[in-house]
Amino acid sequence: MIKKCLFPVAGYGTRFLPATKSMPKEMLPVVNKPLVQYGVEEAIEAGMTTCALVTGRGKRAIADHFDINYELEHQIQGTGKEVYLESIRNVLDRGTFTMVRQREMKGLGHAILTGESLIGNEPFGVILSDDLCMNPEGDGVLAQMAALYRQFRCSIVAIQEVPEDEVHKYGVIAGEPMKEGLYRVESMVEKPKKEDAPSNLAIIGRYILTPDIFDIIRATEPGANGEIQLTDALMKQAQMGCVMAYKFKGLRFDCGSVPGFVEATNYVFENVYGQD
Ligand code: G1P
Repeated sequence: MIKKCLFPVAGYGTRFLPATKSMPKEMLPVVNKPLVQYGVEEAIEAGMTTCALVTGRGKRAIADHFDINYELEHQIQGTGKEVYLESIRNVLDRGTFTMVRQREMKGLGHAILTGESLIGNEPFGVILSDDLCMNPEGDGVLAQMAALYRQFRCSIVAIQEVPEDEVHKYGVIAGEPMKEGLYRVESMVEKPKKEDAPSNLAIIGRYILTPDIFDIIRATEPGANGEIQLTDALMKQAQMGCVMAYKFKGLRFDCGSVPGFVEATNYVFENVYGQD
């Protein structure tokens, strides 16, 4: 039912310099597949086959990745190496890719608003590909959230418990428990100090958003770090109506940090690589 997924991919990837000096951070490979492709595969699995990429300067490699490379296809066709192209060919067969460029980096809220023209007036998913999510036991995280959306018809954020001294890196929620692993959001703070955090339930980079979020973001002033924060807009949406927070089933690796990226690489090499 939700057909589109938005990927904000304009960010700099400073923590991976010099690797990301001329290469988009989303193209960093976890073993043999770029981070952004894991995200796109998760969206497609959830039925969101239109992938809306909010890109920026220096990000052409991402657009090229989700297109045919004729020379490569020609070289490899009919050889034993075709197997290496299988996963990306599957993605290209099933997905459609649209793009818009974000000229200035003014925060996640601003990136989402930049994607409005690609989304229109319908609910949509959001994947921050820095957060690599996997569920070896069943549906991917976005598919789990899409199923919840069918029931609740409101915006949903994915959450995970994090250690108290890490809450300052995240948007943090507090809410009324509805059922196992599901909360109705009552408060939400972007990058709080440990002492100001309403809980240790941190937002992870998976969202389902209803399209009224665009008008709310338009009316949202810059917040933490002077950026237009999606968290602040979602807090308003929660006050006016309903936002749910969902403790997802599965694993999440923070591939925006070097230790998380290395952890993901080891996990994928040992558990996924060569088996999909
Ligand atoms: C963004 C969001 C934050 C969320 C995080 C998840 O922050 O603003 O609410 O917790 O993603 O990865 P960023 O990591 O872009 O600073």
